[in-house]
Order: sequence, then C-alpha cells, then structure tokens
Amino acid sequence: MTESKIALVTGANKGIGYEIAAGLGALGWSVGVGARDEHRREAAVEKLRAAGVDAFGVPLDVTDDASVTAAARLLRERAGRLDALVNNAAITGGVPQHPTAVSPQVLRTVVETNVIGVVRVTNAMLPLLRRAASPRIVNMSSGVGSLTRQTEAGASELTIGPLSAAYSPSKTFLNAVTIQYAKELRDTNILINAACPGYVATDLNGFRGVRTPEQGAAVAIRLATLPDGGPTGSFFEDAGVVPW
Ligand SMILES: NC(=O)c1ccc[n+]([C@@H]2O[C@H](COP(=O)([O-])OP(=O)(O)OC[C@H]3O[C@@H](n4cnc5c(N)ncnc54)[C@H](OP(=O)(O)O)[C@@H]3O)[C@@H](O)[C@H]2O)c1
Repeated sequence: MTESKIALVTGANKGIGYEIAAGLGALGWSVGVGARDEHRREAAVEKLRAAGVDAFGVPLDVTDDASVTAAARLLRERAGRLDALVNNAAITGGVPQHPTAVSPQVLRTVVETNVIGVVRVTNAMLPLLRRAASPRIVNMSSGVGSLTRQTEAGASELTIGPLSAAYSPSKTFLNAVTIQYAKELRDTNILINAACPGYVATDLNGFRGVRTPEQGAAVAIRLATLPDGGPTGSFFEDAGVVPW
C-alpha cells in the first residue's frame, strides 16, 4: 500500500476537476485523474506531473459500468485503497432548458451522468474507501440544485442559473442521494458531502463564470481533507452551508 494519501477525481482533465487534482497534489496526495478521453487525460496528467504532482491517469467514463469497474481495479492494484473520491464529472445537456420543451433524451443523459454516474462510481469505489483510515466522498453539486435558492424572492440568474429542466434538478437529485449515503454510512468513518464551487469560468458555461477554477476547487479540497468527526450529509460552499 502506498504511504501518501490517494484520491480519485472524476472529470479531472479540465476545469474545476483539474484544479481539485492540482490542489490535492500540492498537499502531497497521489491523484488519479479520472477522464474518459485518452488524449485529454494524458495531457492533464503530464501537466500535473510537470507541476510536481504525483498524478496518474484513470480511464473513466462515469456512464459506463465496464469503465468504472476497470477504474476500481486499477486503483486497487495501484494503491489498495482510496482516501478520497471526488465525484466532479458532470454535463449540463445544454442550457437554457425549458421544461415545456426539454427532450426525455436530454433528461436521461444528464441524470445518467450527474446522478447515476455518481452512484455507479461511488459504489464501485466503496470497498477501496472502506480500507482507508479517514475516507471522504465529495459530490460536486451546484447552488442551482438548491430548491431554497431556486424559490427565493429576488433570485438572479447569477445565483440560480438559467431555466434548466435537466441540469438543476439533476443536482437537486444528487443532493438528495448524498443525504441517503450519509444516513447509510453514519456509523462508519466515511464522511460524504455535497459542494458548490460558485459560478466558475469553465467549458460548462462557455466561460461566463466569474470565479477561477482554482477558486471553485477550494471547497472540494476542503471537504476531501476534512478531519475525523467533521460534517457529513451536508452541502457547502466557501461561505458555509448551502440550504437544500
Ligand atoms: N462551472 C460552474 O460554474 C459550476 C457551478 C456549479 C457546479 N459546477 C460543477 O462543478 C463540476 C465541474 O464542472 P466544470 O465547470 O469544471 O465543467 P467542465 O469544465 O465542463 O468539466 C466537466 C468534466 O466532466 C467530465 N465528464 C463529463 N461527462 C463525463 C463522463 N461521462 N465520464 C467522465 N467524465 C465526464 C468532462 O470530460 P470531457 O472533457 O471528456 O468532456 C470534464 O472533465 C461539475 O459537477 C459541475 O456541475 C460547476
């Protein structure tokens, strides 16, 4: 078993996921760069290594059972355990998404990636997480998944995003799933929380966000490195708890 802590970050080839990998790497962690495209994955691994990070590629499409099983096998053979899983990969399915016009196919694809993909990866990695001393799971959610924020008087597009019949509800669904995991795992040493990175300039939103990917990564890094006895089953942004 490797001495340094080991993390898997899904969708780590770019955007916030890349910066989560870089941030954990800067703390001395060994980081698996989960990414579905070989070229983008290897480019990210090379860039991280050039920055001094102990990074390695993990071929991973979160929508594909066989890919996720193979990723778990790779991590088991490499490290024998997993200290932190950051479920970061997601898609929007294209916005705005008018509820009156959204196609079932878009809904299905977004939920398959943003919710079922998280469950698929988490359950495949749980045996490895259970072998770590202080395992942490971070689900990258979004403030646009907060029903409280969506229904607040005076909410602006900056805080609740554009009309989104698939993406926002997928993050609400993910938050609900996170709570269920926390309940099932409450008597273990695994802490699982949802995170909102803020409105970050990435491919996801055509780089319209106002924060840097590094700023967006900070909350996930904090939750991946929580001390024992820290919170579980909660939803955080930099400023504190996000309402459900
Ligand atoms: N940007 C924001 O303002 C914002 C706000 C709130 C929450 N978030 C959340 O933060 C997380 C990161 O978003 P981002 O802004 O960094 O987006 P991004 O730059 O578009 O990156 C998304 C990542 O997910 C990967 N991905 C998508 N589908 C995948 C699949 N089936 N299997 C494996 N990887 C897959 C992408 O890989 P490819 O390169 O192969 O497509 C990419 O690496 C997401 O969960 C997002 O919902 C972002």
